[in-house]
Amino acid sequence: MTPILAPFPASRQRRMRQSPALRALARQNTLTVDDLIWPVFVMDGRDDETPVASMPGVVRRTVDRVAKAAVEAQSLGIPAICIFPYTAMAARTEDCAMAWSPDNLTNQTIRAIKDAAPDIAVMTDIALDPYNINGHDGFVENGEIVNDRTVDALVKMALAQAAAGADILGPSDMMDGRIGAIRAALESEGHQNVTILSYAAKYASAFYGPFRDAVGASAALTGDKKTYQMDPGNADEALRLVARDLSEGADMVMVKPGMPYLDICRQVKDAFGVPTFAYQVSGEYAMLQAAAQNGWLDGDKVMLESLLGFKRAGCDGILTYFAPAAARLLQG
Ligand code: PBG
Repeated sequence: MTPILAPFPASRQRRMRQSPALRALARQNTLTVDDLIWPVFVMDGRDDETPVASMPGVVRRTVDRVAKAAVEAQSLGIPAICIFPYTAMAARTEDCAMAWSPDNLTNQTIRAIKDAAPDIAVMTDIALDPYNINGHDGFVENGEIVNDRTVDALVKMALAQAAAGADILGPSDMMDGRIGAIRAALESEGHQNVTILSYAAKYASAFYGPFRDAVGASAALTGDKKTYQMDPGNADEALRLVARDLSEGADMVMVKPGMPYLDICRQVKDAFGVPTFAYQVSGEYAMLQAAAQNGWLDGDKVMLESLLGFKRAGCDGILTYFAPAAARLLQG
């Protein structure tokens, strides 16, 4: 697109910025409540919650409290809620069997949300890290994170979540071949309508630190995730991974983290034109909140500006811990 610009003064670029009305008319991108997916942390117990120290304003909730929060999210118009379990250390094992138990925290929570707030879409996380004694997203054999045996376990996890009533499955594990394997299993088990939002371009990022505190994985993690999550220097690889996951049956794709990877969001949207999401991860939330708490930034304004940036970069929606706060501001 070649902009046609009359020479000054016929063209005065400030004319269209002079009033709220003209700015509103000319605005190319907007943020709405429809764009938000709210990640929540669930823990054992009843009618209780505990703060996550490195994520001011975020708490871990018991299943009943998550169901209540889902009712509130639904009434705010938030379209989807995403569940992450905080598993007791004793429930973490080398075989990760809890990951596909129909009664694990995630599956209990899916059913509780479906009962309490049937209109909100329920998204899950598929990866072994909340259940794995060593904090990795896949099985570890002799120090190696093994791919194919992990995919078999992820398929079992996906089927248990689909059976519990999940609407959107979120494989966040970065194993090869998992989207195709999960899609085939969903089809053959009668879950044709369950959608997959693939964490297609997930980078090995230091911005996940506070999340690993929230789910209790920081202490557990041995080594790093660089043999399966992407190298932050790569962009072409993100496009290959998105193409691969779409060809295996993903309905939607994600770029993660968000703010440091907006260029990838734009490239993915331009190349494929599919529903594209970004995850504004825990470290992004933590840094904005920390600055706001110190009085260094206006918290509400940077929250909305950062979320609008994702829309401008081509995203259809954002997973963000700010979802309820943003929804309240957007709804006036
Ligand atoms: C793990 C998972 C992670 C996040 C979502 N799923 C962390 C990791 O890969 O170590 C991070 C989310 C956040 O930082 O907010 N499967």
